[in-house]
Amino acid sequence: MYPTDRPRRLRTDGVRPLVSESSLSASDLVAPVFVDATTDELVPIESMPGHERVPADEAVARVEEVRATGVEAVILFGIPETKDAEGSRAYAADGVVQRAIRRITADTDAYVIGDVCLCEYTDHGHCGVIEGSAEADPTLTVENDATLELLEKTAVSQADAGADMVAPSSMTDGQVAAIRGALDDAGHGDVAIMSYAAKYESAFYGPFRDAADGAPAFGDRRHYQMDPANGREALREGRIDAEEGADVLLVKPALPYLDVVAAFRREFDRPIAAYNVSGEYAMLHAAAGKGWLDLEATAYESLLSIKRAGADLIVTYFAEDLADRL
Ligand code: PBG
Repeated sequence: MYPTDRPRRLRTDGVRPLVSESSLSASDLVAPVFVDATTDELVPIESMPGHERVPADEAVARVEEVRATGVEAVILFGIPETKDAEGSRAYAADGVVQRAIRRITADTDAYVIGDVCLCEYTDHGHCGVIEGSAEADPTLTVENDATLELLEKTAVSQADAGADMVAPSSMTDGQVAAIRGALDDAGHGDVAIMSYAAKYESAFYGPFRDAADGAPAFGDRRHYQMDPANGREALREGRIDAEEGADVLLVKPALPYLDVVAAFRREFDRPIAAYNVSGEYAMLHAAAGKGWLDLEATAYESLLSIKRAGADLIVTYFAEDLADRL
């Protein structure tokens, strides 16, 4: 009790680092990279300053830039040359992500993660198979079980190309077990799975949907992504994915869901990842652009808070910029 108890004693410059509870380093970070089959030059992403869609030919150069900052891991997203109802370019052996993975793994030592989803590849923009037409049936939603096979093919094609890890993000029930089985059958027992276990139906994905051109053509994703109101349900999702064989459990978005990150840390003995999403990046940039916030300081504080909540690794668009400073 005051005056005996004075927490300020441990806030002097000499002792602060000794009692600091969390830290952030480049080795905690994963940098997203967008590879685009529709262009042969770099295309800036307006709502995500500093980020560009890169043609597959430029993927190696892009990844080398990331690695030069000390960040060793990248997660790849693809913008395909064409889209169709089944998202067939998601699992084509010569798909844009598969081509980029082949080059990156041949020419660099980066740790390569493939995002496994269909929304960037389907003409309707949903994360799975749709049967019927939205005009005829307004309650139309993604067919869960028919989607599993396409996710398996996508994961295996990325592993065939050399991916070290696959990250299923479509919130399809049973996706981790299906992908684990398919990878093992294809001789990819060493390829890890990071599941987007608790992925919320979030408005913070707005800039990404521009970046990857993956907005749904009708409806929204609340029939498969999680309700932002729910925390206990996230633990159920995490438990299911852990039992199905996920090596790493991811929570997404990060900052509005730090309670879920902390709950995952307490509940599970697996590494916990958090995805600091496009909207979390864009809003700091927008405020900094107006001179209202210090970009580097708020980005650092954001990522440190995600570590403090219990994440082991963070997928973030700030990876390169912050690693440079760390
Ligand atoms: C694909 C996917 C999305 C993001 C990552 N993978 C978009 C979505 O579900 O709409 C969002 C990433 C971000 O906002 O940074 N399903």
